[in-house]
Amino acid sequence: MTERRKLIVVSNRGPIAYGRDGGERLVKRGAGGLVTALAPLVSHHDVTWIASAISDEDREVAAAGTVEETARDGSRYRLRLVAHPPEAYDLYYNVIANPALWFVQHGLWERKLDPDRDLIPAWDDGYVEVNRDFADAVLEELEREPEAAVFFHDYHLYVAPSFVHERRPDTTLAHFTHIPWVGPDAWSVLPERVVREIHDGLLACDVAGFHTQRWRQAFLDSCRALGLDPDERRVNAHPISIDPQEFEILAASEPVLARERTLLSDRPEQLILRVDRTDPSKNVPRGFEAFALLLERRPDLRGRVGMLALLDASRQEIPEYVEERRLIEEAAAAVEARFAGALTLRIADDFPASIAAYKQFDVLLVNAVMDGLNLVAKEAPIVNVRDGAVALSVNAGAYEELSDWVVPLDPFDVPGTADALEQALELGQDERAERRRAIGARVREHDLEEWIAAQLADLDHASSIRRR
Ligand code: F6P
Repeated sequence: MTERRKLIVVSNRGPIAYGRDGGERLVKRGAGGLVTALAPLVSHHDVTWIASAISDEDREVAAAGTVEETARDGSRYRLRLVAHPPEAYDLYYNVIANPALWFVQHGLWERKLDPDRDLIPAWDDGYVEVNRDFADAVLEELEREPEAAVFFHDYHLYVAPSFVHERRPDTTLAHFTHIPWVGPDAWSVLPERVVREIHDGLLACDVAGFHTQRWRQAFLDSCRALGLDPDERRVNAHPISIDPQEFEILAASEPVLARERTLLSDRPEQLILRVDRTDPSKNVPRGFEAFALLLERRPDLRGRVGMLALLDASRQEIPEYVEERRLIEEAAAAVEARFAGALTLRIADDFPASIAAYKQFDVLLVNAVMDGLNLVAKEAPIVNVRDGAVALSVNAGAYEELSDWVVPLDPFDVPGTADALEQALELGQDERAERRRAIGARVREHDLEEWIAAQLADLDHASSIRRR
């Protein structure tokens, strides 16, 4: 790790979430990949983390101002939860960030975005207001730590950097987008003012980061289509990664071993696994259809190959997500009606069960319509004990890194996905072992620590460009 420095990290979800059990305050690890990825920052740097107060208990904590917290490894950091007005937060999260920005940036707008809805009020009174609250909190923290760099994360925080830059032009700002970036035509379904404010926000930063060259290039293209002139030296691509050791430790932990025993007691001869949130971008129904098609074509596989889908219910305040969950359940029931016992669908928040299944899959299916990166494609092979193969969407960011060792699939092509599953199931043992080793080596070599170091190096590089 590089030298210790002062950082203000800003993300919608915080590293922890507070709850209450009767009289006692509970602290849970924050949900989602982003927060897991950023957690190591607090061990090596002086971090103030600013996030939204989401639960009622979070709002209680927010009222106390910035608090000192202790990470799992004992490191101390400062946590500032921002209690946004509830109506503004609802418009920001449930109308603009998800579904509008999320769907536009995952190529799903035509299916999900209501074309009659006027987004401008929700943009101005929700998204922009919440981003302004975040910027105000950052500015207050900068009063205390004027030399800190500010590191904004994801599609919830596209415009906050503009507000900070206006008031503190000398502060180093970075933004990292964890979801895909799309080209100018895809953005054109949103009001131009909104699109312009999004791009202005990222360009107010000294560094704008993306997971892949593909998303980076799309950003440069969409800037130019707006007549903006991005400095290419400040727009970077670094695929996020995982801490392999953390997964190895988890894989040997008692909760995981207990679930693995249950799984082993009735596993099929060959197991196809998927682990996702119930998000339309994850393309779960098409994955189920592809599996059914495979069983239809190959009667010899019936009773021998099973699919396990471990899904975490996501964003159930948003009607499109409630509908997606229904579509997933319906698609699973249709497979079960034709091939009883072939598909197990579990919708639960059970991380140890996911790790147990990571160990036991023969084929991992990741058929996302589009995905910023997809950490499952990196996590699962690290702990797998069966030399399982990975069937991976060419539209997942991880494909840019792992393409040599996966079976590629077009997420929109159901028969093609069935072919990919078949090919993955039939790869020879040596080939599977070789590919899994190669993925493991790649992930170990380019781990989370390297990604964090790259972010910090980008900050330094950007500051040196600015000084010239
Ligand atoms: O992929 C982007 C991301 O922010 C992930 O970090 C996270 O797992 C997911 O979206 C969670 O979304 P939400 O905070 O809406 O549950």
